[in-house]
Amino acid sequence: MNTPILETERLILRKFTEADMEALFLILKDEEVNRFLPWYPVKNMAETKTFYKERYAEKYKQPQAYAYAICLKNENFPIGYMNVEMEEHHDFGYGLRKEFWHQGIVTEAGKAVIEQVKKDGLPYITATHDKNNPRSGNVMKKLGMQYCYSYEEQWQPKDIFVIFRMYQLNFYGTADFVYKKYWDHSEHHVIEEL
Ligand SMILES: CC(C)(COP(=O)(O)OP(=O)(O)OC[C@H]1O[C@@H](n2cnc3c(N)ncnc32)[C@H](O)[C@@H]1OP(=O)(O)O)[C@@H](O)C(=O)NCCC(=O)NCCS
Repeated sequence: MNTPILETERLILRKFTEADMEALFLILKDEEVNRFLPWYPVKNMAETKTFYKERYAEKYKQPQAYAYAICLKNENFPIGYMNVEMEEHHDFGYGLRKEFWHQGIVTEAGKAVIEQVKKDGLPYITATHDKNNPRSGNVMKKLGMQYCYSYEEQWQPKDIFVIFRMYQLNFYGTADFVYKKYWDHSEHHVIEEL
């Protein structure tokens, strides 16, 4: 139940390993790819290794986690990542090297990961995106996630003002259940007409 290997038509989704540091560096160093993410682009291999240790190796020690490297099937070289967190929000996140955008790769990966977490009994996933990053919202919609609400946050560590849109997909339990913690923690929240 920790990042089980998944295959789709074009992709293999698997764990990152210590042999993937060059691939991870290429994903994490790009300013544009990392603009809407809660970290700064990495500058060198040392920072990449620290990122891997803190955000991947630690998760692989847990009994259950979903922290995937997205690889093209014929190359098995990570070009992106996709995660579902095990905290209550079950946040769903992803990123892909720019050269591979506009081919439906993240949507294809997302379908497989969602099928897996549903099979494993997660009750729902949520995902949030910066209003200025609608491309990410398009992925959420294509995966069947429902827009629930928007909220403002002075976002760390970048210390910038962000309006986030929150999407959710329920698997079990009440069909109309909405995860409200982001709404509750933000003074300014609204349901937009999208
Ligand atoms: C957001 C992001 C993950 C989208 O990646 P992507 O692989 O291009 O997204 P999709 O899977 O939705 O692909 C959709 C595009 O592929 C095209 N496409 C081509 N073949 C396709 C296929 N077989 N199936 C679906 N779409 C296909 C679509 O027309 C669409 O084109 P468009 O981007 O010009 O509108 C990517 O831009 C990214 O990594 N951004 C930076 C990181 C980030 O913002 N992460 C999210 C933070 S909340």
